[in-house]
This record gives sequence, C-alpha cells and structure tokens, in this order.
Amino acid sequence: AGVVIKNICFIGAGYVGVPTAAVIALKNPFLRVTVIDRDEFRIRRWNSAHVPISEPGLDDIVRLTRDGSKACSVEAVKSSLAQRIGARSSKISIPARQPNLTFATASSKSMAEADMIFICVNTPTKVTGIGAGYATDMTAVESVVKEVAVNAKTGAILVEKSTVPCRTAKLVQDILDTYRPRARFQVLSNPEFLSEGTAVKNLLHPDRVIIGSSNTIPGRRAAAALAKIYSTWVDRSKILGTHVWSSELAKLVANAMLAQRISSINSISAICEGTGADVHEVAKSIGLDPRIGPQFLKAGLGFGGSCFRKDIGSLVYLARSLGLHEVGDYWNQVLLINDLQRKRFARKVISRLNGTLIRKKITLLGFAFKKDTGDTRESVAIDIIRVLLEERPAEVAIFDPCCSVAGIQSELENLGGHDALNVYADPYQACLDADAILVVTDWDNFRMASTPDHTNIKRPQSPTDLTSSTSTIVADRADGFLNLSKDQYLPEPPCPSNCPECAYSFPSFNTEEHLEWARISYHMKKPKLVFDGRGILNATEMEKLGIRVEALGKAE
Ligand code: NAD
Ligand code: UGA
Repeated sequence: AGVVIKNICFIGAGYVGVPTAAVIALKNPFLRVTVIDRDEFRIRRWNSAHVPISEPGLDDIVRLTRDGSKACSVEAVKSSLAQRIGARSSKISIPARQPNLTFATASSKSMAEADMIFICVNTPTKVTGIGAGYATDMTAVESVVKEVAVNAKTGAILVEKSTVPCRTAKLVQDILDTYRPRARFQVLSNPEFLSEGTAVKNLLHPDRVIIGSSNTIPGRRAAAALAKIYSTWVDRSKILGTHVWSSELAKLVANAMLAQRISSINSISAICEGTGADVHEVAKSIGLDPRIGPQFLKAGLGFGGSCFRKDIGSLVYLARSLGLHEVGDYWNQVLLINDLQRKRFARKVISRLNGTLIRKKITLLGFAFKKDTGDTRESVAIDIIRVLLEERPAEVAIFDPCCSVAGIQSELENLGGHDALNVYADPYQACLDADAILVVTDWDNFRMASTPDHTNIKRPQSPTDLTSSTSTIVADRADGFLNLSKDQYLPEPPCPSNCPECAYSFPSFNTEEHLEWARISYHMKKPKLVFDGRGILNATEMEKLGIRVEALGKAE
C-alpha cells in the first residue's frame, strides 16, 4: 500500500530548509508543513514581516503559504514571482489554498505529528580533531536524528536534505535503532541542488530531483511517497530514483565538478597573465564546444559560499580514508588553486601600489560571496582583507548593496577586530579618497550602465556633491506588507535602517541603480586604480573616466 503523507516537518530554517519547505507547501496545499529551528531569533524573523534571507521571490511564497490570501492575492503573488524569477506569469500555477506553512522553535510535537521529516541542518567542516579542515562535522545531524528517534512516530520517513558524507544513511539508521529499537523508520537521501540568489527559480524548475533509498520494498515505497510530493509540479521524467549511497555521493560530486571548472579556468587565467592571452576570450572559445559548455567558466576571484569548499573537503577526506591518496590530492588541488587566486589578486593590488599600503585607503566593493544574495559565508573578501591588513593600510573600506552592516561586521570579527576596517552603507562614501578599489562581488549594479555614453554621465562639480548622494533611500516600510490590502501588494523593499523588527540595518543604496563611476573617479586618488576581481567592468569605457582597470586573466 502507498504511504500517506499529511504532515511534513523541516528541521533547520536556513537557506535550504525554508525555500524547499515553502515551495513544497505552495505546490501541495493539502499538506501541512512546519519548519522548526532551535534558533529562536531566526524563527521570530520568519514569522515577521521581514524574512531573514534575501532570495528573489521567497518572501512572496512565504507570505502566501504562511499568511494565506488574506495577506496577498494569489494573482498578485504570481505576477510578482514571475517578475522576480524571470518567468511568464501564465507559466506559474498556484493551487487555491489556506495557509499551510508554519514556523516554530524546535519542538517535539512537530516531530511527533510528522509523517515525513526533512533534515536541513548545517554540515560544516570540522575545525579540530580527526579530519580537521576536511571531514564533515556531523554534530548537528547527529543531534537532530537523536531527537527524531525519541519523538517521531513509528513509520515516519526521514529525508536527508543536508549535504552529507556518503553512507550517512547507515549512521542515521544506527542512531534510530539505538534510541528507538522497536520503531521502524525509512531513511531517504534527497540532496538539494539550488543555488543562492536563484533558489526559488531552481526549486520551481529543477533540472532533476534525486531520491536515494534502500533497495527494499519499504525503502522504495518511501521513495515513491516523496516522489509523489514533487510530482505535483516536477515532471516525472526529472525525478530519478537511485540507491541511497549514489544519491549522497552524487551531491558531493556535483559540487566538486562545478568547483573544478572554476579552478580549471582560474588556473588558465594565471597562464593568460603571463602570455598575453585573454582568459575571457579563451573561456568563450572553449565554451562554444557543446561537450564543454559555457557555464561555470567565469574566471575571477574563485568560489566562495558555504558549500563548495566544505563539500570538496568532504570528498577529499572520503577518498583519503579509502586509501585513495592520489584521488584525494586530485580534488584537493581544486581548493589550492582557489586559494591561490585570492592570494594572487591581493598581491597584485599591493604590487601595483608600489609594494606599500601605508597611509592608503583600499575600498572593497562587495562582500557577499556572489551577487543577488546577502550571504557572506566563506566570502572571498575576508581572505583578501587578511592579506591587505598585513601591509598596514590606513583604511580598508567595505560596501555591499545587500549585506547588512551588522552582518559584515560580525564576519570581520573573525579577523580579530581592526581599527582600519570600516563598513559603509553608501558606496560613494566608501570610495571617497580611495587609492584603489577592488571589485570583489559580481553585483550587476557595480557594472557601468548598459549605455556607457560617458559624455552624458553627470560629473560631480564639487566634492560636496558626494555627500548629497543620489542613491535612493529605500522606502519607509513602517506599513509592513501585512497591513496592505491584497491588491496593494508590492515587492518587498529591503528593511530601512534600524528596523526594530529585525534589528538589521541595510545599505541606503537602491540595488536597481548602477554605480556612477564618473563620480567615483572624481573622488579617487591618482592613479585611480580599480582591480576587477570578477571581470564585470569595461576597461575601455572606464579609461575614458580616467580609471585604470586591472583584471585577472589579462596581461597588463
Ligand atoms: P543554514 O545555516 O542557513 O541553516 C541551517 C539551520 O539549521 C540553522 O538555522 C540552524 O540554527 C539550524 N539547526 C542546526 N542544528 C539544529 C538543531 N539541532 N535543531 C534545530 N535546528 C538546528 O544552512 P543551509 O545553507 O540551509 O545549509 C543546510 C544544509 O543544506 C547543509 O548541509 C548544506 O550543505 C546544504 N545545502 C546548502 C545549499 C545552499 O545554497 N545554502 C544548497 C544545497 C545544499
Ligand atoms: C552551489 C551550486 O551551484 C549549487 O548547485 C549547490 O546546490 C550549492 O552550491 C550548494 O550545495 O550549496 P552556490 O554556492 O549558491 O551554489 O552558488 P554558485 O552560483 O554555484 O557560485 C558559487 C561561487 O562560485 C560564487 O562565489 C561564484 O562567484 C563563483 N563562481 C561561479 C565563479 O567564480 N565562476 C563561475 O563561473 C561560477
């Protein structure tokens, strides 16, 4: 007989747990979905007007599934969602509904009621002990599996959504057997392939859904129950059943292969700098071969983010623990090239500034690990700042259009606090009197406007123009969306400074605007150097503004 699923519990209200839970709730209005987390502050924010994660379209879905059509109409959400994920409104179908998504602090009741429990907690790299720097820290997974064992109803299905080492399902089953020997649970692996910044789009239109199970009848039934949930919006041909070990390993390998492409092209960028070839032209030339393809060949500062480094580390550790040292070394090289790229960039900056940063101001544009997210985990910026600080600059200024000032400051604490570090909410203040500007994140609004007619660019007439910033102060959100009638619904702007509800202050820069490079140039120190770590600036157009652009992967 088929397994009937009515209640689902997600443990871990983070970048993976909430978008996945919200999309499942959206597409399955008859399921009750609860997301629990031990972090009370995070749960409070998921229940507030301002969702804690900046992810295009996510707040639309959370609002509708959590608050129902009293808060906003299905049609309004559809059109907002379509606009934000770049789809046609008619292509998005949203079933009629009552609210069916709840956020709560971790509770045994939510676990006890659930027919299916998704584990979405962190699986970082171990920092001490055996395998430090490579092996996965399983503390959070172990702790939630113990709680599930004690609280869940017999017959519940446990789904590994977190990225875990191969053979974790055995470890999970062993913990369940130890703490509830007489209960029966099924363990599935259903890795997540979403990327931050496009999470909703990826979840609504996945390339594939992988469901790993044991090769037993109950295992296959459990996999079928999960496949049924996805099939409400994903074509059956895209739902692939595998053995649980293959599914767990496939996730690590997918990330390793993507990261490997980045390190491969970055290794070539170093060769380009020494030979006079242009890495972007090389990437374009090879990417036209359909066997290679154009994606993930963008040379630059390399990969940041919470997953690539840790997942490759996990793969390296796995290979080495199987005695496959050459295999481990092969994948480890992807990490070494990634580190090298940051160091090469920072050294280039120092060398172009005559080998000394004393009494100089260096500005970093971007702190998020990639555009369209406020996530700063494993930000490339931190490593660069670390190298710069050793040269004792007068100031390292930081601006990011989406990261909160408090968020950046808390990341900077990892550097042990430093007087020279300043975080700005205004890009023009950050760049004022800079000796060099470093483009660290590929935000679209750091590019020049698409029609770079420099004759029409408004040039500042005096330094005081700078203080009267033209960047728009974000709309006052005193009337949060919950007070809007359903037809008045508008996409949510970022929170205003000092929002009491979420205690975060965001930059006063409108993320729709492009930076006025003419204005920045006017207030830079000579020789007006901009180091483009993401290959997003047009050096010829910048030259017309008196700025010299240095990029990775191009000879000087
Ligand atoms: P996250 O840090 O954003 O969220 C994890 C949440 O789990 C946190 O809110 C934390 O408080 C909570 N948590 C930890 N221990 C808990 C416990 N014992 N009880 C209740 N809650 C607990 O992490 P994330 O980015 O969502 O990643 C989660 C997993 O998904 C990781 O394994 C990651 O590798 C994987 N993954 C992440 C992404 C991504 O883009 N971020 C994509 C694919 C897969
Ligand atoms: C990545 C994968 O793309 C997802 O499929 C996966 O689910 C996720 O990791 C995960 O397991 O966490 P994400 O880290 O969110 O997603 O973002 P990516 O778009 O993959 O970018 C990662 C980093 O690589 C960024 O710092 C980006 O700037 C860099 N990158 C990406 C490059 O330097 N060059 C490229 O060509 C592409």
